[in-house]
Amino acid sequence: MSEKTKYTEIWENNEIESLYKRFSAVVKPFEIPLLAILAKKANEIFRDRPGISIFEIGAGNGQHTQIILNAIDKNHNISYTGIDVSSAQREQFEVASKVFQSNVNVVEYTISSFQDYSPIKQYDVVISQHSWYGIGSDIKNFEKLRDILTDGGVCFIMLNPKGNLSQIAMQNNNENPFSSDDLDGPLTACGLRFERVTSYNDDNTRQSFCVDGKLTQHGLDHFSYLYRKDLQGDERNVIEMIKDAPDEAFRFPTDLIIVRK
Ligand SMILES: C[S@@+](CC[C@H](N)C(=O)[O-])C[C@H]1O[C@@H](n2cnc3c(N)ncnc32)[C@H](O)[C@@H]1O
Repeated sequence: MSEKTKYTEIWENNEIESLYKRFSAVVKPFEIPLLAILAKKANEIFRDRPGISIFEIGAGNGQHTQIILNAIDKNHNISYTGIDVSSAQREQFEVASKVFQSNVNVVEYTISSFQDYSPIKQYDVVISQHSWYGIGSDIKNFEKLRDILTDGGVCFIMLNPKGNLSQIAMQNNNENPFSSDDLDGPLTACGLRFERVTSYNDDNTRQSFCVDGKLTQHGLDHFSYLYRKDLQGDERNVIEMIKDAPDEAFRFPTDLIIVRK
């Protein structure tokens, strides 16, 4: 059994799935431009192919998966495999997948961490949307990523860079604040080429999180998830953290790393 980070453990115990549902409504504005880029790139690369196989690491509750699958050209038959450590997320995914389009075949959704997963085949597209925080920098997992990709395949890793409030909160939570800035070394060491696209949410400002020393509803939703507990009536630590965070952190910079084999 490989070593787990705390980030993965809190999902395995299903402690934050319900908070994430609340949070994911808030993240959509800045995730959606990146999901559109992801689907456009996949459409370009596999333009002439009738079928695409997709493997998603940390597939979650299916909401973001569905946005991607809907944006991939309908003339592709998609065979989809997901893994995640959270059985509560899988339950949500089962509901979401009922309305996936008819060109999508969900082959399986396995409960496993990527570290413990032994792939039995290769995939054209590998997606990791905000799950690599729990996987970290161990080179073995980047080698596994390289080996799971077909020749000419593409992997999309979405992660926060260091300046993001999530990173600051992870640090305060004593979690592993693995960031998109930490990917360059291991990807290069595995001989993988990559490019980076950053998206911001310009509607997020210090004031949209906190007014007159109190969290707004928007702030409450974000920070309850980031601090892994419902913060209603217990906002002091968060207000303290906001005080020191730079303005840039509130725009939630988010990176999409496009990796080619
Ligand atoms: C922030 S959520 C993102 C979920 C989904 N990808 C999305 O974009 O909505 C992180 C997901 O990664 C999963 N996860 C955490 N550590 C993992 C690991 N080591 N291997 C696989 N999945 C992991 C969690 O259970 C959770 O569903």
